[in-house]
Amino acid sequence: MKTITSIKQHKGQTPLTVITAYDALFASLFDQKVDMILVGDSLNMSFNAKQDTLSASMEVMLYHTKAVCAGAKETFIICDMPFGTYTDEKMALHNASLVYSQTNAHAVKIEGGISRAPIIKALTQNSIAVMAHIGLMPQYVRSEGGYKVRGRSEEDILTLIEDAKAVEEAGAFSVVIEGVVEEAARRISETISIPTIGIGAGKYTDGQVLVWSDMLGFFQAFQPKFVKRYLEGATLVQNAVDAYVKEVQERSFPQPPYTYTK
Ligand code: KIV
Ligand code: NA
Repeated sequence: MKTITSIKQHKGQTPLTVITAYDALFASLFDQKVDMILVGDSLNMSFNAKQDTLSASMEVMLYHTKAVCAGAKETFIICDMPFGTYTDEKMALHNASLVYSQTNAHAVKIEGGISRAPIIKALTQNSIAVMAHIGLMPQYVRSEGGYKVRGRSEEDILTLIEDAKAVEEAGAFSVVIEGVVEEAARRISETISIPTIGIGAGKYTDGQVLVWSDMLGFFQAFQPKFVKRYLEGATLVQNAVDAYVKEVQERSFPQPPYTYTK
């Protein structure tokens, strides 16, 4: 089981492996295989069919985090703080404290760079471990007018480096870098001394994270460029359900091995 200290020691060493999970069943399949499990607010889309992450609530995140903790007892777990639950220090502290008091999660994650540094500092100074999240930030989708890849210009790369330095300085133990060109993610990773966890950020980060339902091919509504499918989950499930329906309709299921006799 990873700790904040052992996670930090991965900087410049073996890349950290992170996957999301939303429920106990899948979390138990990932337990002891990955370094960290993130209960991402991406569940609002992939689990709950919403258009974006904005309507995820604290209540929903706590519910899913409890389930993931029950399923993955040997893995370091991070709970995403949903939109609107950390807009000032007092509110952030209240809501992040719920994660520690009501679940067994080890850390919280919040989106934002320099502008969120005071919030990160308030949490870390009150002994709540924080993973930061910079670059493309899905909770900013409406205010930004869409999802835009970051770090294409030198000016933007320098902005991202300042964000990364600010969250490190504020006490974050690690930072997700999402939707950033590879060169920018490499320079950020070289600049700061906490591990960077990339998603759509190329191969030079100190770790990688993918959304489980994307990388296992269950979520078909939308597939970003950076998602590699390691399984065709949706096709496998649908073929199995088709076979079940056919056998029931033909009265070939249940066959003798699945039937009680006297
Ligand atoms: O919600 C989520 O799954 C995330 C990851 C994409 C980093 O924030
Ligand atoms: Na998220």
